Amino acid sequence: MLWAAALAAMLLAPCAAATDNVANGNKLFNNGAAPCTQCHNLKSPKTDADFAIRGAANDPDLIAFAINTNPDSVGEMRPLYGDGMPFELSDSDLSDLAAYIGSVVNPGGGGSATFSASPSSFDFGTVGVHAQSATKSFTIKVIGAAGSISSVSSSNNVEFLLAGGTCLATPVSLAQNGTCSLQVIFAPGVGGMRSSTITLVDNGAPNPLSISVSGTGGASAPAQGNLTGPGSAVFASQVLFTQSAPKTLTFRNNGTLPVSVVALSSSNPAEFPLLGSSCGVVAAGATCTASVAFDPSASGARAATLTIANDGATNPLSVQLSGTGAGGSTGGGTKVVVMEYYNASLGHYFITSNTDEIKLLGKPPFDAWQPTGLSFSAYAPANAPTGTVGVCRFFNDHFLGVSTHFYAPHGLGCEQTITAFPDWTLEDPQLFYASLPDIAGNCPSGQIPVYRLFNNGMGGAPNHRFTTDPAVRSQMMAKGYSPEGYGVGVGWCAPQ
Ligand code: HEC
Repeated sequence: MLWAAALAAMLLAPCAAATDNVANGNKLFNNGAAPCTQCHNLKSPKTDADFAIRGAANDPDLIAFAINTNPDSVGEMRPLYGDGMPFELSDSDLSDLAAYIGSVVNPGGGGSATFSASPSSFDFGTVGVHAQSATKSFTIKVIGAAGSISSVSSSNNVEFLLAGGTCLATPVSLAQNGTCSLQVIFAPGVGGMRSSTITLVDNGAPNPLSISVSGTGGASAPAQGNLTGPGSAVFASQVLFTQSAPKTLTFRNNGTLPVSVVALSSSNPAEFPLLGSSCGVVAAGATCTASVAFDPSASGARAATLTIANDGATNPLSVQLSGTGAGGSTGGGTKVVVMEYYNASLGHYFITSNTDEIKLLGKPPFDAWQPTGLSFSAYAPANAPTGTVGVCRFFNDHFLGVSTHFYAPHGLGCEQTITAFPDWTLEDPQLFYASLPDIAGNCPSGQIPVYRLFNNGMGGAPNHRFTTDPAVRSQMMAKGYSPEGYGVGVGWCAPQ
């Protein structure tokens, strides 16, 4: 074991020294076909490249490293000296050059410690603000004598962070030709050109040894959630008091952190109700949806804002909702007459547009029901104009045998009666068609109000009277009937 080590030392170290040809190194360096002096001044160092080359004293590997690996030198050295290049250097040339450099830097084999860094400077290129570069390693070498490093610092240690390496364990003692390592990370805090000087205080030359590092802070999105969605959603024209099919709105988190949706709200929930939402915590890159509908209560242009309160960059996010309320007939359609009857023994009113019923009422066996002489118009279901709705007729005889009817248009009582009053039988889902008033009780132009009046259950059974005559309306109210419907009590609207 000991013998083998000794033999290896005899074969390698002394032989290498013996075969080095300082004269050949001198020639290659100063007078060769591609002299190193084009770019390096060995004897009176001034530039980074001048200081760096001194590290090659008796170190042929550093010259090979400079030619093939060091990014600061390969662009210039490899095209001259690299493999297959015109001035390719053999291993023995490298050895000779290292011996020559050693003889200049360290004449007589002894002397003061000379420190160098490899690479001697470094540009990290562009790194996004708040991101960080890969770790860059530097090698610090001392030649000429043993040396020591007492401190290492970065003038901008926030953006050019001394991240590790054996050189940081100061004080660091290095044997002659010994090295230590230093790792630096670039983490720009702001955009643009950034730089720092890394300073190593040593006991030789140069002291301090400085390494210039630089980089560029590039644009980068801040780390935050950013919910995006459609700016607007437009509904088709919709008949008053009828709900459109739901519209699904998709929101996407285009940010880099999750977004928490705090609340979704419609500024006009009656006309633009929010039906549902899957938006809670939305992961970066993920989507969520909300569904809204249009249920106009007035004709013409209707609008609302859907607001999505969240903790991302775009808060609140809003979607403009709009649609057109179709307030009744735009003309056309087949008109029908709605006749009114009164049963004096019950005190109940009954209306119908059904011609078969009209033929039977007023004479035996239905002579208890006599025409009041009042009527108004409506539209035939088979040819109703766009914008009108069917009027439902319900029947109920659960009031001590007293049968009674109730009338309610779709969108203004029909659906609610079906759901909330199951003992009322839907006799006809569209006895006739009519226009709806808006929520204030206004009828579309060309239509007149049909007032709805409730008997408040007088006589033991509920009953309503529907009339277009304001005088009749007043009479009924004087008798204790209550107005129902929109505005002053409008049940629907009739064509004139
Ligand atoms: C055309 C210009 C050019 C020529 C010619 C040239 N070099 Fe270099 N050399 C460079 C540059 C540029 C660097 C990088 C300096 C730095 O890192 O700051 C460099 C660096 C070096 C380094 C230091 C490597 C390190 O990482 O510390 C050594 C050693 C070196 N050169 C040796 C030589 C030798 C030996 C020759 C002649 C055979 C030579 N150079 C010729 C441009 C040249």
